[in-house]
Amino acid sequence: MKYRTMGKLGVQTSAFGLGCMRFNGKAFGDTIIDEQKAISLIRQAIDGGVTYLDTAYVYLDKTSEIVVGKALQDGYRDKVTIATKMPLGYVKDRASMEALLEEELKKLQTDHIDFYLMHGLDKNEWEAFKAIGAPAFFDDMKREGKIRFKCFSFHGPYEDFAYILNDYDWDMVQIQYNFMDIDHQAGRKGLQLAGEKGIPVVIMEGLLGGRLSSAPENVQALYDAFPVHRTPVEWAFRWLCNHPEVAVVLSGCNEPEQIEENLRIFDTVEAGVMDDAELKLMEDVRRAYLDRTKIGCTGCKYCMPCPNGVNIPGIFSVWNNVSLYCTDPANDWGLKRIKENGNGADQCVGCKRCEEACPQHLPIIEQLQCAWKDLC
Ligand SMILES: NC(=O)c1ccc[n+]([C@@H]2O[C@H](COP(=O)([O-])OP(=O)(O)OC[C@H]3O[C@@H](n4cnc5c(N)ncnc54)[C@H](OP(=O)(O)O)[C@@H]3O)[C@@H](O)[C@H]2O)c1
Repeated sequence: MKYRTMGKLGVQTSAFGLGCMRFNGKAFGDTIIDEQKAISLIRQAIDGGVTYLDTAYVYLDKTSEIVVGKALQDGYRDKVTIATKMPLGYVKDRASMEALLEEELKKLQTDHIDFYLMHGLDKNEWEAFKAIGAPAFFDDMKREGKIRFKCFSFHGPYEDFAYILNDYDWDMVQIQYNFMDIDHQAGRKGLQLAGEKGIPVVIMEGLLGGRLSSAPENVQALYDAFPVHRTPVEWAFRWLCNHPEVAVVLSGCNEPEQIEENLRIFDTVEAGVMDDAELKLMEDVRRAYLDRTKIGCTGCKYCMPCPNGVNIPGIFSVWNNVSLYCTDPANDWGLKRIKENGNGADQCVGCKRCEEACPQHLPIIEQLQCAWKDLC
């Protein structure tokens, strides 16, 4: 296992951090399927050198912290740092922040949390949380030793990320990043900004939730043609760890074989090891994925709101993702939600309001029907 120093904190950590959001559940709202197996996966990772675990109040229908707490008995707690998160939707005031933290400490069976994150913070929430005293709460909890580091995780646009990052004395940030997301969410600019400030960055969705763990034919052909052969998972993690700003790469594993493979990969990855040929390969791989794009919708939402409630950017985003990553639309939670809420393309009456507003001049009405036919 390679270890890294976390920016200005000076804390040593394993480059591979175990994400505790999955364990055979596919999303954070799924309940845990096999507690013993999850405990065994956590201990396998720690025995293999992992020193960083990431969980959250809401993961696995609120059971992830409990399972992590159980796995960390028998001397395992002292071998790791724990990151967990304040569930923002449950917070009303200072008293509820205190109550939630106490509950999390109890579930995790520990007297302190190493990295305490505001979970999926956005700019509006940050303003609202400042107004109810979140910064003072974090400072007080740090002083009392209940948390060691004040952090946030983030999925919004770069501008909001920069605003929040510059607005408080954060110790660490967690962002979604992978070779497909360099211009998405906080993106490369966000990573570099944190790096310039000496704030360590923890990466989530390094494999895009598993979508980058196998490659479609046109991408695999590029990997195969390269003189050095590595799995898609290894290329993805190698590319991430090549960035000096990256402190930890999280990955949520479901099987012992995945942990084993990731332990092997994180034995070799280091910042700055990729040469020009490797970096060009990853750029070519990225383009090959993007060649699979169905429609050039940028998600600007100028077409919204649709008078008939069609979620136009949502449908196009699912359509593109299914094509890019060869996923099954039946398992796509975004599509599921669109259907449940009656926001499907079957509601389109062809009024053309969307086409008049689209800055890309996309033939939205015709393409919506193509997308719906492919997805349903
Ligand atoms: N704060 C937030 O808002 C937020 C949001 C998302 C995630 N997170 C955290 O970040 C962690 C990491 O995100 P993530 O779980 O999405 O990470 P990820 O690494 O992008 O995806 C994990 C998935 O990749 C596949 N995988 C992992 N290792 C593999 C291997 N060696 N070979 C083949 N497939 C492999 C598995 O999927 P299959 O078994 O299905 O193939 C696994 O479930 C989460 O666990 C969670 O703790 C936080």
